Amino acid sequence: LKAGLNGERLEQKGKRQLEWAEAHMPVLMLIRRELEPERPLAGLRIGAVLHVTKETGVLVRTLKSLGASVTLAGSNPLSTQDEIVAALSQEGIHVFARHAETQEEYYSGLDAVIQSSPQIVMDDGADLHALIHAKKSEISVIGGTEETTTGVNRLRAMEREGVLRYPVIAVNDAHTKHLFDNRYGTGQSTVDGILRATNLLLAGKTCVVAGYGWVGRGIAARLRGMGAKVIVTETNPVKALEAAMEGFDVRRMEEAAASGDIFVTATGNRGIIREEHFALMKDGAVLANSGHFDVEVDVKTLRGVSKGSRVIRENLEEFTLMDGRRLYLIAEGRLANLGAAEGHPSEVMDMSFSNQALSVVHLKRFKMSPKVHSVPPEIDLRIASLKLEAMGIKIDSMTESQEEYTGSWEFGT
Ligand code: ADE
Repeated sequence: LKAGLNGERLEQKGKRQLEWAEAHMPVLMLIRRELEPERPLAGLRIGAVLHVTKETGVLVRTLKSLGASVTLAGSNPLSTQDEIVAALSQEGIHVFARHAETQEEYYSGLDAVIQSSPQIVMDDGADLHALIHAKKSEISVIGGTEETTTGVNRLRAMEREGVLRYPVIAVNDAHTKHLFDNRYGTGQSTVDGILRATNLLLAGKTCVVAGYGWVGRGIAARLRGMGAKVIVTETNPVKALEAAMEGFDVRRMEEAAASGDIFVTATGNRGIIREEHFALMKDGAVLANSGHFDVEVDVKTLRGVSKGSRVIRENLEEFTLMDGRRLYLIAEGRLANLGAAEGHPSEVMDMSFSNQALSVVHLKRFKMSPKVHSVPPEIDLRIASLKLEAMGIKIDSMTESQEEYTGSWEFGT
């Protein structure tokens, strides 16, 4: 059964995808309906660099409904869904992105966002924030948001060096973002990317997950849930201990390299899987990355130590090493969940993007200092409550006596 007619226009396909996402993003839709009458973003120019997916489409439509004009570029050359570009462009949103765009096109998208003189900038990975800061000229920006761990780390480095020129709300750090999006969203969508690219059986395989942050935790848990034996590698002793007590086999990469059937990196750091590891790997090992940038698997070296490569399936490149062993790389070593699948499901992006929308409203309403700020806790809690409500879950509230008990130091043994 195929949705739509053959030869149907791309934008119609995109509109149906947006409709599907909207039906699964109840919190963001409620925020849209609630704030639409007062148009809190009236006249505001927003520049956004986000993965151009159906969920981002729902966010951008929401910002527009609240009065903003939005210029959007893609956050990764492989993550753009062209039908969403077509649908949004038709609705008056300026989109500069194309699936499988070149590096030059990627940067010209960012440039187009900067040329739109945005007052608020929304970013995923901080390339846009970095580029704006690299320009010495006057800027129109009053504030920004940042979606992901890597981006927040970069912005904190800018703050430490005293170069940050406007306030940025670290959306990633909201509880209703990283505890859900990074863990369950990346957990599921990474497995989705591995399966779409390879269609291999996970049960009984040995999977090596590099990094046990929220993303690594999610990926390791989901791979285990599918029957894989999971090895975790870490540099942080506390995280390594946590992984060990969760029952994962914790080892060094040089030890794990020879055992793994499937490798997934999620560290946010570079050179995690490199030449000495390629040398130890089994014939047929699969390599995937779920960190923001394509620096975790050393693809350049892999190319250099291979006698040839070919694309064997969509988003899967086979490298033949000098000794004849073959290694398989998913989505060029870029984000496997967005390059080989569709990114996180709508239900989880519902919370991440509700944080984005309410953070933008907050930036417009309140003057903030040029620092990295947390999402206001009342926004975080409200999103959790709305999500519970949408899921039909009711929770208890404390009695007066309990409120008194938790707020007091006098009650003891
Ligand atoms: N990052 C991860 N998944 C995403 C999605 N579905 N949309 C936008 N950004 C994402």
